[in-house]
Parts: sequence; structure tokens; C-alpha cells
Amino acid sequence: MSFPYTDEMMESVAKVEATRAERMKVEPRRLTAEEKDALLEQYHPDYNLESFEQILVGPNKGQKAPKELVALLQGKSRVQGMHLDLTHPDYDVDVLIIGGGGAGASAAIEAHELGANVLVVTKLRMGDANTMMAEGGIQAADKANDSPAQHYLDVMGGGHFTNVPELVEKLTKDGPKSIAWLEKLGVLFDKDENGNMITTHGGGTSRKRMHAARDYSGAEIMRVVRDEVYNRGIPVIEFTVAIELIKDTEGKAAGAVLQNLETGEIMIARAKCVVITTGGAGRLHYQGFPTSNHYGATADGLVLAYRAGARLLYQDTLQYHPTGVAFPSQIYGALVTEKVRSVGAQLVNREGVAYMHPLETRDVAASGVIREVSRGLGVHTPLRDGIWLDTPMIDMIHGKGTIEARIPGMLRMYGRYDIDLRKVPIVIYPTLHYQNGGIRISVDGMSDIPNLFVGGEASGGVHGRNRLMGNSLLDVIVFGRNAGQSAGKKFREVTLTDLTLDHVDKFAKECEEAGIHSDVLSPKLLPDYRRQK
Ligand code: FUM
Repeated sequence: MSFPYTDEMMESVAKVEATRAERMKVEPRRLTAEEKDALLEQYHPDYNLESFEQILVGPNKGQKAPKELVALLQGKSRVQGMHLDLTHPDYDVDVLIIGGGGAGASAAIEAHELGANVLVVTKLRMGDANTMMAEGGIQAADKANDSPAQHYLDVMGGGHFTNVPELVEKLTKDGPKSIAWLEKLGVLFDKDENGNMITTHGGGTSRKRMHAARDYSGAEIMRVVRDEVYNRGIPVIEFTVAIELIKDTEGKAAGAVLQNLETGEIMIARAKCVVITTGGAGRLHYQGFPTSNHYGATADGLVLAYRAGARLLYQDTLQYHPTGVAFPSQIYGALVTEKVRSVGAQLVNREGVAYMHPLETRDVAASGVIREVSRGLGVHTPLRDGIWLDTPMIDMIHGKGTIEARIPGMLRMYGRYDIDLRKVPIVIYPTLHYQNGGIRISVDGMSDIPNLFVGGEASGGVHGRNRLMGNSLLDVIVFGRNAGQSAGKKFREVTLTDLTLDHVDKFAKECEEAGIHSDVLSPKLLPDYRRQK
């Protein structure tokens, strides 16, 4: 492999280098609220109405959602036509957890702690999830100059004040205890020579409260919570997916129909409480965007809960992370952590102009990148146009060795393709990163369906219409634990009546009456990257 930048890219690199000294002296200014609104409206993909459709059936009927999600919400159930015996379940547990990422593991630990007989089912392996892919860090207001109230204001502002206030209150108040919990379990957060947590800013934060483990924070957290699940002996069934929720005749969540992905075998799990922690939807590639998400992120939880009658919230708002890899092609769409900007790299167009402050909130920063490229100010690469992220600045600001110490994952990722980001800037473009909305929950984590709890990215409301960096890992821990605690208390008072899948037939009938005759099997389970004829 040899250094892959073209001559044209290097001509632009020369312009970036020429303006660097001046840019390091004067930070780009912050945008006004009016400027932000105008930018979002013109360039943010959520405002591209052509890519949305109206939902025609179910609790969110009349609202819009991305076309790909609507097709799944109104799709054909995988259990249709199956003759299932619900009277002899293969598993009979107190708490069934669907999804084996950070939220699922946290829920399992807490429900188990409360004495529940817990079962985790996960589509891929335990830990194959967006938590594992999270890089930059986890927010929590645990420093002397900070407070949960300050954090609350940042979250609300970042979400354009559309967040559900009680959920934000829970998120921010539980932040410090979550860090303490993780540390106690064994997470190795970055610390200074005195043993104090090293914290940085993220986009839209008023205090430095991003705790990290280098730039593989999610992998470190997942390592520890997964170990805890295994240490407790909680059973985990891998490569097994929930294809439909089961209710009892009183309408309470009562289990799920499971399918082994390797053998196709169908199994029935009966449970007094069910927790959905299935994560996001990046692998639906809304609007053709690449994604930073894990392979299994196909919105399964939203589909299952919706068909069973749960409302969604903000299903029409997605997060496009401003800095996805735009070049080289081998890692197209992969995440370039916001931490790269937290530690000093600026966003610079092909003419060497730092057109925007690097730590605007994500929706604004992504819109800025899209604007510069659509104005013809993007860097031409053999793959697609993008914007420079001026990484050599980091070592210049903080001293040689900072990149190696603080963002070693990024250094390695680009190093594989002979790009040394200590020496040259890298080219980025937004990548589909996060589903801001999801299944509506109350503060105890329960959805509209009795005894169906939700935690992590599958839920909606915490982040409103835009999430700030580091609040996803926090959400995963706070609301994963919350769902596990609620289910772990609730199961003791639950008596299930007969199990039923009537809601599936009812939903199919509603679709038929609305003139929907879909062949799209849902949930999707896995993305299909086979070449189309
Ligand atoms: O940029 C990042 O490291 C991503 C963090 C997040 O989505 O919270």
C-alpha cells in the first residue's frame, strides 16, 4: 500500500497547511440560533421531505418516518402462516431481554441483582452492538465545576428543547452514579497522574464532562458489562433473534417468538416482563448514507413494539455524525470520533478555510459539512467529496504524542491505509450514526404496553430531535439499568394469562384495510448487501 492522496488532494492540503498557524490563533466563531436554524432547514437530511413517508397504520398513523422504516413498520410479519404452539414454551423466565449490547447487558445485570430469572437473546454475539462501536466517551457531571442541572440544560438545548424533561432529568441525575458503577465493575477510564478523570468537551457541552477510555470507550464499557453478565451466569442465547413479541390475553407483554439465525429453528420464550434493547437503525442506510453502526442495527425493536401497539416518538429524526470517513473507500462511513475535534482538530474546506466552530452540535456540524460540499468547497477524492479534518493541529496544540495517547484507534484505523493523521488532515463526510427517536417510554422505562420495557437507542424522547456526543453511552447505562430495575421489581407481581399473537393478525388486518399489501418481511434482521441485478 502507498500513500493514497491524489495530487489534487495534496494541492488542497497545501492550502490547509498555509492557513493553519493563523487558524490556531483565532477560533472560528459560534453560529447564532437563527443561523443554525437556517442551516438545518436547508442542509440537514431530516428536512429532505422526499425521503419520508406517512405511516398509514398503527399508533403513529398520520406521522412521518423515513421510507425504509415505514416499509418495515408496515411490513409482513415473519410469523404469518406459522402454526405456533404457545402453550409449551421453550423458555419460561421472569425477564426476557432482547438485545445483547450495552443496554441489554446493563438491564440483565440489574434484573438479576433483584433476583429475577433472566434470559438474554441476541441476534449476533453478546456485545455485537453499537455500544461496542462507540469511541469518544460518556458524559456525566461529576466534576466540581459541573452539575446535573448544567448537564440537563446542555441536553435540552442540544435537543432543541424537544426532549422529554423527566427522561433528561433521570439521564443527567444518574450520570455520576453511572460512572461510579462502571468504574466499580472495572472500566478503565482515562485519568491524569493524580488519579483524576480526564474529561473533555463534546459538541454543545458547557463543561468538560466527557469521560473516555482513549477512543475506544464503548468497547471498554462493553467488555466490562459483558463480563459481568457472564460472571453472574446469566444465560445468553446468541445468533437468535426475536421475530415477534407475544402478549397475554390481557394485553401484557409476555414473551417473544425467537428464531435461531443459523438453523432457522423457531422457539417460544415466555416471560413476565420483556425488555427491548435492540439498538439503532443505521443499517437501513436512510437516504443512501453510509453508517457507523454495527451490522445488526436494523430497527428490529421498533418494528416489534409498534406491531404490538407501542407508540414511537421522534421516529423521523436521525443523527448524521458530521465526521464519517469519506476516504479511503475501505473504511467509508466509519466513525471518526468527535473527540478528534474535542482535542483540537478543525473542520476546514478545500480552500483552507475553517468555516465553522468544530464543536457546534452534531446536527449543525453535519449540515455545515453538507453545505460546504454542495457549494463546491469540498475536497475531491476518488470516492466522494468531503471536508478536511485538520488532525495535525492536535499534536501542535497539545504536544507531540497527544494523538498517539488520546486517539490511538484513529491513528491505527488510518495507518492501515498509509495515512498518518499526525502529518496530513483526513477527509470526512456525515455518516448515519444514531436514531434520535424510538419507542416512547415513561420514566420507569415502560412503553405503552404493560410490562414491555425499553432501554438505550431503541427508546425515544431522551435526546429530543438531536443528541449530544457522549449521551448515548450514558443513555445505554442509565436507561438500560433503569429498564432492568423496573422489570426486576415488576415481575414479582405479574400473573400471565394465556399467550397470544392476536395483535399480529389485528395489525395485518389494519394494513389490509389501509390498502397495504406488503411482501417486505419485517423485522429486517440483517442488512442485504448482495449486488442487485
Ligand atoms: O464521536 C463519537 O465518538 C461518538 C460519540 C457518540 O455518539 O456519543
